[in-house]
Amino acid sequence: MSRPIEGPEAGGGARRQLKIAVDGPASSGKGTVARLVARQLDYLWIDTGALYRAVALTARRRGVAWSSSEEVASLAEGLRVEWVRERGEEPKLLVNGEDLSLAVRAEEIGAGASIVAAIPRVRSALLGVQRHLAARGGVVMDGRDIGTVVLPDAELKVYLDASLDERARRRWLQFPSRNYDAVRLDIAERDDRDRTRVVAPLCAAADALRLDTTDLPIEEAVTIIVGWARERGSGSVGTSGEG
Ligand code: CDP
Repeated sequence: MSRPIEGPEAGGGARRQLKIAVDGPASSGKGTVARLVARQLDYLWIDTGALYRAVALTARRRGVAWSSSEEVASLAEGLRVEWVRERGEEPKLLVNGEDLSLAVRAEEIGAGASIVAAIPRVRSALLGVQRHLAARGGVVMDGRDIGTVVLPDAELKVYLDASLDERARRRWLQFPSRNYDAVRLDIAERDDRDRTRVVAPLCAAADALRLDTTDLPIEEAVTIIVGWARERGSGSVGTSGEG
């Protein structure tokens, strides 16, 4: 894994630059919420699931089974991952120079990501990249273990959740050609893998603030989290972001 490239908008400014961790299960809303919170605070949004997805996608392309721990781990350790953010654009994930931002979102790659994410050497290979990206603050990082393992020193930790039925409904709306029950089963299996793995399982940090988004519109979740960030000093000096 190589150092990520930080775009021109990352960090900077006179404001207090917090590290904000957003964790939660699949389709709890964390990706959307984290992206919008980052936009409002003019922070860098880092979707750590995309890194695990990139490992799963690369393994698939090279014909390596997701369950082949040693081979997948070696592959992960050899990947050159860069996270690039140009002014006014969403961050892009470059893997060995190729933009994989869209390709990693395929539904079956999410399942592969949760299999390779249970391999301890894969997690170690990605840990340094994530910490390096967050080092200067001014980041909203979403994932499963951000508040517990990657950024235990984050000034704000949020744990988002929602009922399984609601999360399955959201995921099915993204992939409506699939059968709803199959989507629900996939999510339940993935949650179970993520919660029960030995290394860095999905769980809320003891000091995380919890938000249930089952009946909470995304904009309200964003407003609440931006409020928590401001209470901790983000944006108290200098100009505000877009929002
Ligand atoms: O967006 P979605 O909720 O479908 O998943 P994601 O955030 O893209 O993450 C895909 C998979 O990567 C998860 O099911 C986890 O197994 C793994 N992951 C992880 O283990 N640790 C993280 N910090 C982020 C993702």
